[in-house]
Amino acid sequence: MSDETLEDKTGVLSLMDTTEDLAEYKKLQWEGSFNDYLQMVQENPAITRNAFQRLYDMVLSYGVREYDDAKKEIIHYNFFDDPTTGGKEAIYGLDIPLMKMMNVFKAAAKGYGPEKRILLLHGPVGSSKSTIVRLLKRGTERYSRTEEGALYTFEWTGLKEAGIDDDDVMPCPMHEDPLNLVPEKRRKEVAEKLSKEEFTIDIDQFLCPYCNLIYEELAKKYDGNQPEILKHVRVKRFTILERSRRGIGTFQPKDEKNQDSTELTGDINYRKIAEYGDEFDPRAFNFKGEFEIANRGLMEFIEVLKLDVAFLYDLLGATQDHDIKPKGFAQTSIDEAIIGHTNEAEFKKLQSNEFMEALQDRTIKIDIPYITKTEEEVKIYERAYRSQPGMHIAPHAREMAALWVVLTRLWEPKKLELTVLQKAKLYDGKHIHGFNEDHIKELRKEAPREGLEGISPRYIQDIISNSMVTEKASECLAPFLLLNELEAGLKNHSSIKTERERKRYGELIAIVKQEFEDTVKGEVQRAISADQEALAKVCANYIDQIKAYTQKEKVKNKYTGENEAPDERLMRSIEEKIDIPEVRKDVFRTELMTHIGGLAHEGQSFDYQTDERLRKAIELKLFEDQKDSIKLTSLVSAVIDKETQEKIDVVKQRLIDKMGYCEICATDVLNFVASIFARGDASEES
Ligand SMILES: Nc1ncnc2c1ncn2[C@@H]1O[C@H](COP(=O)(O)OP(=O)(O)OP(=O)(O)O)[C@@H](O)[C@H]1O
Ligand SMILES: [Mg+2]
Repeated sequence: MSDETLEDKTGVLSLMDTTEDLAEYKKLQWEGSFNDYLQMVQENPAITRNAFQRLYDMVLSYGVREYDDAKKEIIHYNFFDDPTTGGKEAIYGLDIPLMKMMNVFKAAAKGYGPEKRILLLHGPVGSSKSTIVRLLKRGTERYSRTEEGALYTFEWTGLKEAGIDDDDVMPCPMHEDPLNLVPEKRRKEVAEKLSKEEFTIDIDQFLCPYCNLIYEELAKKYDGNQPEILKHVRVKRFTILERSRRGIGTFQPKDEKNQDSTELTGDINYRKIAEYGDEFDPRAFNFKGEFEIANRGLMEFIEVLKLDVAFLYDLLGATQDHDIKPKGFAQTSIDEAIIGHTNEAEFKKLQSNEFMEALQDRTIKIDIPYITKTEEEVKIYERAYRSQPGMHIAPHAREMAALWVVLTRLWEPKKLELTVLQKAKLYDGKHIHGFNEDHIKELRKEAPREGLEGISPRYIQDIISNSMVTEKASECLAPFLLLNELEAGLKNHSSIKTERERKRYGELIAIVKQEFEDTVKGEVQRAISADQEALAKVCANYIDQIKAYTQKEKVKNKYTGENEAPDERLMRSIEEKIDIPEVRKDVFRTELMTHIGGLAHEGQSFDYQTDERLRKAIELKLFEDQKDSIKLTSLVSAVIDKETQEKIDVVKQRLIDKMGYCEICATDVLNFVASIFARGDASEES
């Protein structure tokens, strides 16, 4: 190799080869004797934790945050923020279901019973069940590489020499804990000796068929001399990695003909039968079924309820007794968390299927519903879809889609006088006059299945991504366009079951459109009156007027240069904004002038922004003026004079600079709000 090929021109090679990584690699390659392992266990008995204890501790290791929501104490597990990837697969808005799930894990870790059940994540399609399991799998992998989550297994050495196997070194095919080598009758004493107050060791697994055979063969060879047998044992660190088939198994039902139980519990190695002369020799068996692969870690059952009945008993044994039955062998211990997931439709089928009754009885169902808070739902779309060069996403587009999808999931309030939109806002933490947290509790209580029905986030994702690439959106995805696409898509949405439902979802679109109108109206108003210069001008003018008024002088008209009486109409139009009655106007004006005079006396100038009431009055006045003088409504007509256009452009620029709009959506929104004002709605606003 020439120096040229080794030179790290990009700087990437050195990134990939750091001393840190080397140090980690070394640690993970740790090997030692059985005796070394015993010493480590004595020091830290928790390295013998079972799969559920590890799973629970793994999640906890990321820390928690506690808070109150509608008078309920919530524990948020930071693990589900997916911090290691910067939140790529973070789960939003499901703290309560995740808390329930964690309570099941906790009980299983403590050995209270759930460890003998199939944990079934159940919910409507697209509610993040697979994502949750994926996070747990990745977390389990990472944890096994940390100091805190380290776990160990062993391999046999010197087998060929001893005439027991053709391979000299053979790892335990099920990567068991080395403590499983402790003979049954000594287990209790050994466990007591190695346990500590903070962790009690329980050796309750039996050696797998292969290791059992090797153990017996070596015992024969050494007349049962334990130290001699254990000399053939090399303890190693075990790291879990799904893609290398270590410690994580998955099973997905396919069509029945292509599937048999060997997939779960392993298969005969025909090549080796000839050698050992017996198909029931564990040396001629591949312990590579999913249950065996998953030992020490996690077993995922995708769509577990579609499982063929033929596999049911394997699954039941695995959960209930932590045993599997590889073909031709005795019951074999396994230590793994078994998590299945299924959607609502399949679950309903199960309920009416007698055959599955045994399964149902051994299942702990954990509901994973849809999000019912808009501000959480919107995070899914904000994460997946961002403005890019050439494709801007208009403000409120994702938010309005999220609001709609949440509305499809909510039940109409029954007892309280509340619209479903108001309910959504309450859930979202917004203030609705006359309602408080007790009402939220009541609303949640009267709708127990809320979140298990409605539209899936996938539908929104599909429509957004489709809209972003079609011509329609051109360079900016606007909320109205998105809402229209969502509405149009309802016609052939496959999971909508009834016409009534379809109609209701359509009506909810109309509600969201109205909400959008109100939102942008407020936003444009703010953009219009956010002009500091104009505000200062209105204020200066007002002060000139009241100064002349209180001193009984005349004011010079800027344009004509003539002296005129103070403009009473103008002064009142400002004062009325903050409800100063006619009879109090003199007091108000005098007080203000006294204050300004006092400041001037000390060499200071007056800043209207320090006067809360006056500032509000000025802002409202400016908006009122601008609305007319900017003549936003003239956007609706075809002709616009230059001056108006300039003023409108200033507002537009403000929308672009300060409020996340682009040229296209700022123009659209101004036209849209202009048309609302033209309809006369504006009069309600001031
Ligand atoms: N609460 C949530 N937080 C973050 N993302 C979510 C949430 N709910 C759904 N998603 C997103 O929706 C999509 C579907 O999620 P996922 O595939 O995990 O659902 P699922 O429940 O397994 O669905 P199915 O029942 O169809 O298998 C993913 O892109 C996921 O990130
Ligand atoms: Mg899924």
